[in-house]
This record gives sequence, C-alpha cells and structure tokens, in this order.
Amino acid sequence: MSESDNLEELGREAIARVADAAKSSELDAIDTQYLGRKGALTLQLRKIGSLVPEQRKGFGQAVNDLKEEIQAAIRARREAIAGGETDARLAGEALDVTMPGRFYQIGRPHILAQTLSRIKDIFIRLGYDIVESPEVESYHYNFEALNYPLDHPAIDEQMSFYVTEDRLLRTHTTAYQHRQMEKRKPPIMVCTMGKCYRVEAVDATHGHTFHQVDCFCVDHGITMADLKGTLYQFAVEMFGPDTNVRFRPDFFPFVEPGAEVAVTCSICAGKGCNVCKGSGWLELAGAGMIHPNVLEGAGIDSEEYTGFAFGFGIERMPMVQHGIDDLRLFLDNDLRFLRQL
Ligand code: PHE
Repeated sequence: MSESDNLEELGREAIARVADAAKSSELDAIDTQYLGRKGALTLQLRKIGSLVPEQRKGFGQAVNDLKEEIQAAIRARREAIAGGETDARLAGEALDVTMPGRFYQIGRPHILAQTLSRIKDIFIRLGYDIVESPEVESYHYNFEALNYPLDHPAIDEQMSFYVTEDRLLRTHTTAYQHRQMEKRKPPIMVCTMGKCYRVEAVDATHGHTFHQVDCFCVDHGITMADLKGTLYQFAVEMFGPDTNVRFRPDFFPFVEPGAEVAVTCSICAGKGCNVCKGSGWLELAGAGMIHPNVLEGAGIDSEEYTGFAFGFGIERMPMVQHGIDDLRLFLDNDLRFLRQL
C-alpha cells in the first residue's frame, strides 16, 4: 500500500468517526487522536524525511489538506451536536399550550351578606345613617334601657348568653338604640345590622346565631303613619311593587303601641302556599312607636319628640326567596350549598 493510500484510509476512518460522534467529548478525543501532538496525522508528517525528495512536497500538502478537512468536519459536527443539545433542552422546557388550564374557584359574597347589602342600600336611599354596633353588649343597653321589666323572661340567663355578670351576647340589634340616642340630637334616623344570639335548641328553624336589622327615627311629629310608610317603601323595594304590608298589634317593652309586621308572601303573591301556610302573609318584623320611657331615659323630651322603631330578622328573606328549608345551612359553610346562591 502506498503512503497516499494509507493516508486516504486514515482520512476516511477519521471522517467516519467524526460523523458518528454523539457528544462533544467524543470529538475532543478524535481531535487528539488524529491531530494532536502525537496524533496519527502528525506522525504521518514525521515520515516526510524518509520519502524521496520529489514526493515530499505532494505528501506534505496532502497531509495538511486532510488535517484541515478533519478539522472542518469536527467543527461542523461540534455545531450540530451543540444545536441538538439545545433542541433537546428546549424540548424539555417546552410548554404544551394545548393543555387544559387549572380552574380557579372565584369567591362571592355569602347569601346573607348579599341580602344585608341590599337592605343596606334601601335604607341608605331612605336617608338612614348605617352604624356599627357591638355584639357583646351590656345588660343595660340590651334590656334595662329598653324598658324591660325586671322579671321579663328574655332577661333570664336560660335564654341569653352571658359573658360576665352584666355582659351578654346581644339578643337583638335594638340594643344599639339607646347608645345612638345618647350620642345624637333629633332629628335622628339610624340603622344597624348584624349578628344576634339567643339560647335555642338548634333545628331547621331555630338557631342560636342569627342576623337582624334595626332602624329607628326620632323627630318632631313622627307618627305611626311614618312607620307604615317606611316599612311599605322597604317592602316594595325588597320584594317588588305588588307587595302589601299588614300591621297587627303586638307587644315589645320598648314600643307603645307595638306591632307585628307582615308582607305579602312573595312566593304565591298572597294567594296562599305552603311557605306562608296558606295565609298569603309572611311575618317579617317587630315595630312600634318608641316608648316614652326609652326616649326620656336618653334625655329626649317625649312631650316634644316622638319616634318609631322596627327590627327584623334576615335569614327568613333568602329562605323564602330561594326555598331554603334549613336555617343551619347558612352557618355550615358547605360550598355545595353556598355556590348555588
Ligand atoms: N327587637 C325586636 C325583636 O328582636 C324587634 C323590634 C325592633 C320590635 C324594634 C319593635 C321595635 O324581635
């Protein structure tokens, strides 16, 4: 075999190995093996001295050409491998934009909060000042200032949650009334809303925790007609234009006269159904003209001023509206229930 055949063979072998290399470290090894200081081609060059002079130039040229060819092949292969490695990395990092997204639950106000905020809007439009009031209340404001006789059963600790000897969880939002009367001068129009508590055996229609709204108004010449007009306006805005209001005598220590207020049943439009037990009416509120003892107790002259007050429970409204038959659902926080409203 001639020297040039030998060289060609070496070249083919080197180029083939470059083409097969899968990693740049393999190319480093090939580079060293053929082109390094003791590499195969370098050794070929050393042979040059043993050749006849007329062959030397051609052979040297051929070795150098081959060297460049191999170097170029290594360079090209190196770039291809690097490109492949980048492709593989990018493929690993790729986002599948067709993958279905994760569904995030969006919250919404609790049904009672929704109801309270509708009520609040109506009373703001009617000119009431909406105020905050404490849930832990003194015996004085919850009962005494509201003209409760000492032996009234509501005062009994069997019926109220006492925190200390003279502090309890308010049994009605009416407890805020005297606090406001002490702070303000007539004309007064205030409204409060929030949680109330009573000792009750819990079942579908009784709860120990419930919500109420209370409003009162004190000014010159306030009469029962103002009370009726206000509650009528509220009922129409809350339940619709065909709603009527019915007043019947009732007793509360802090009003005189006192009334129980009912509105047209919004389910059957007054025709009678199982929600209103065939009567066509839903009892909604307690109301009345503020008792002179209550006004006087707050330093308001009951000869000069009169006032009305009313208060009602909140739970009843969404129960009727959505056909909810168990009060406990409101406080259970079961999302299967809450998501429907
Ligand atoms: N506080 C009474 C109740 O809880 C309702 C009421 C409020 C009645 C204001 C008259 C006037 O039942």
